[in-house]
Amino acid sequence: MKQRVLSGVRPTGPLHLGHLLGVIQNWKKFENENAFYMIADWHALTTEYDSKTTIKQNVLEVALDLLAGGLDPAKCTVFVQSHVKEHCEMSLLLSMLTPLAWLERNPTYKDQIQELGDKELHTHGFLGYPVLQTADIILYKADIVPVGEDQLAHLELSREIVRRFHFIYGKKIFPEPQASLTRVPKLPGTDGRKMSKSYGNAIYLSDSPAEVDNKVKQMVTDPARIKREDKGHPEVCPVFCYHKLFNAEQESLIAEECRGALRGCVDCKREMGGKLKEFLAPIYERRRQFASESGKVIEILNDGARKARKVAAETMDEAKEAVGI
Ligand code: TRP
Ligand code: SF4
Repeated sequence: MKQRVLSGVRPTGPLHLGHLLGVIQNWKKFENENAFYMIADWHALTTEYDSKTTIKQNVLEVALDLLAGGLDPAKCTVFVQSHVKEHCEMSLLLSMLTPLAWLERNPTYKDQIQELGDKELHTHGFLGYPVLQTADIILYKADIVPVGEDQLAHLELSREIVRRFHFIYGKKIFPEPQASLTRVPKLPGTDGRKMSKSYGNAIYLSDSPAEVDNKVKQMVTDPARIKREDKGHPEVCPVFCYHKLFNAEQESLIAEECRGALRGCVDCKREMGGKLKEFLAPIYERRRQFASESGKVIEILNDGARKARKVAAETMDEAKEAVGI
């Protein structure tokens, strides 16, 4: 029996190397199951409702990134959340039975309100974020939800909502979804902090080789290496993190040379940049290919929506029947 898998990514901007290692490669592991992968544009709207760039444009970029990153639409269903109206319908249904207190104590909610302090996020939609996310999951009766650690609180809430549904309506319709945690290799941004669009330190899957060169050149290294003769500490150097991932055979040699001041940071970066570009080349090429076949991505997303809709509509009927509406 194949397992049902669902996950989503918010199209708030182009995807970067962190997404490739943390999201796409994790998703690929479930391609031989019955997997649904969604571009969560309604979820993006919860925080970007007043943004000047349209989410629609981001959706296409993210779709290109997912396909370029190796997700195979012949094996899994790739679709856009807003193309399948049942997500809204199920979300509204679940909102009837989800106690406000559960949403108000959601730690992710509190953190995000803090973090995005200058934006009005005391909205109905943002508070209901996990309700919509639960709808996403249960419409496909997903057993497994591949996500990062930051989503664990949401998933716990999803299980609580599922249990409450079953308790109230006396019928077990949905599996209680389980997270499949991504063991992400640590990959910092170019400034050593967590890679994130908002820090301006990300390397994107859509970056040209020249842009990659530029970003690598500007990367932060061990601050103790002011002069060429200063001995380095590879364990604190972001460039070394990249060597570990993209130039693994040379890892110990590089560490040794860095510690002994036998290698300069400029050369070290050049070598790493070369390896990184080698790694990114097929992704960049696939992205270019998909982007050049006009209509191809739209067709994949339409096809995905059709497949998703079929499953979602069946589940929605079942849920309405249980609720008595
Ligand atoms: N909230 C998730 C994130 O920010 C994205 C998401 C939306 C999602 N719907 C989902 C993840 C359903 C898993 C399942 O990363
Ligand atoms: Fe980092 Fe390489 Fe410079 Fe060492 S030599 S500090 S690993 S860039």
